[in-house]
Amino acid sequence: MDSTSQEEIELIQAHTHIWKYAFEYASSMSLKCVVELGIPDILHSHGKPMTLSTLADALSLPSGRVDPLNRLMRFMVHSGFFATQSLGENQEQQGYILTATSRLLVKVNSNTMASVVLFMVDPFLVSSLHTLSTWFQGSESTPFAAAHGTKVWNVLEQNPEFGKKFHDAMANDSCVLMSVILNEGKGVFNNLKSLVDVGGGTGTTAHAVVGAFPHLDCMVLDLPNVVADLQGTANVVFIGGDMFESIPRADAVLMKFILHDWSDKDCVRILKRCREAIPSREQGGKVIIIDAVIEEDKKKKQEAEDDSIITETQLLFDIMMMAFVDGKERTEKEWEKLFIDSGFTDYKITRVQGFRSFIEVYP
Ligand SMILES: C[S@@+](CC[C@H](N)C(=O)[O-])C[C@H]1O[C@@H](n2cnc3c(N)ncnc32)[C@H](O)[C@@H]1O
Repeated sequence: MDSTSQEEIELIQAHTHIWKYAFEYASSMSLKCVVELGIPDILHSHGKPMTLSTLADALSLPSGRVDPLNRLMRFMVHSGFFATQSLGENQEQQGYILTATSRLLVKVNSNTMASVVLFMVDPFLVSSLHTLSTWFQGSESTPFAAAHGTKVWNVLEQNPEFGKKFHDAMANDSCVLMSVILNEGKGVFNNLKSLVDVGGGTGTTAHAVVGAFPHLDCMVLDLPNVVADLQGTANVVFIGGDMFESIPRADAVLMKFILHDWSDKDCVRILKRCREAIPSREQGGKVIIIDAVIEEDKKKKQEAEDDSIITETQLLFDIMMMAFVDGKERTEKEWEKLFIDSGFTDYKITRVQGFRSFIEVYP
């Protein structure tokens, strides 16, 4: 038999690559399916390896769905969401167990990403991605606006169910992220007495920060409809307002996952409001941004597998920000230009675990 040429190997690799990407949405939908069925919750409460038939019983599945469940779980095990382990002394029989990833999908855990999955694969949101190519040739601000004739922010305000899903997802993200990066970025909050979390949503980030720095007084500024029914605590106060109009005065402004939602022009407007709200650098004034910094210089990057997942996640986020909100993920150069254009003099980036960094910006 003739040996396969290099050209043929490359051709078949490219062919497989295309199949994988054309089907990639099945990964998202399988993830959505296991969260909706509550499989991580069932494995969590079972507390030991769970066989296929016990899992099917717990899900009350008809017998015809046991083999499809087996195939769904095989894919999710392959993708690292679950693992298998032999059942006690019976080495032959395998049961499913949680992994670090699916432990983050258990809804009763305080650290959970279940709402993130359910919001990001919401059909209303996903459907706007089908207009990506027509949007490129049109004049709408975003593919979301091209598909639905309005901006995401309007839908979040007008559709309380969609709004709740979004704010639950943001709260999930903040809870998990802050539990890790606050420790790494301790120095960022040292010496501050007051902080305003701009676009702070339902306050999860603010509560995490004051939990770690109890001497700190924190205001959470968000749109009036978002904070209307929220109860503050002794050192977390909710304020309804518009960050484009004015920001309450504090030693520092915190913005987590905010500037990546907006165009450069809008970011400069927001950053100018931030600058008005804080004292001079000598008096401790600064803006603290938690967002991605895209690492373009491959030489600076470690060749670790982790690093490619981080970059891919950042680049996917960038497409999502383009599709939904006219925002973008930025390189260090792009961040620097924003800071100069809005009148700041200096900045410092602290890279922490995950795909986002702390950026301290000084007047
Ligand atoms: C992507 S979410 C981030 C929420 C939160 N910082 C977090 O990371 O969990 C963006 C937030 O900005 C808020 N927002 C949008 N426009 C705003 C405005 N003009 N003034 C104040 N907040 C605004 C939204 O209501 C939402 O809570």
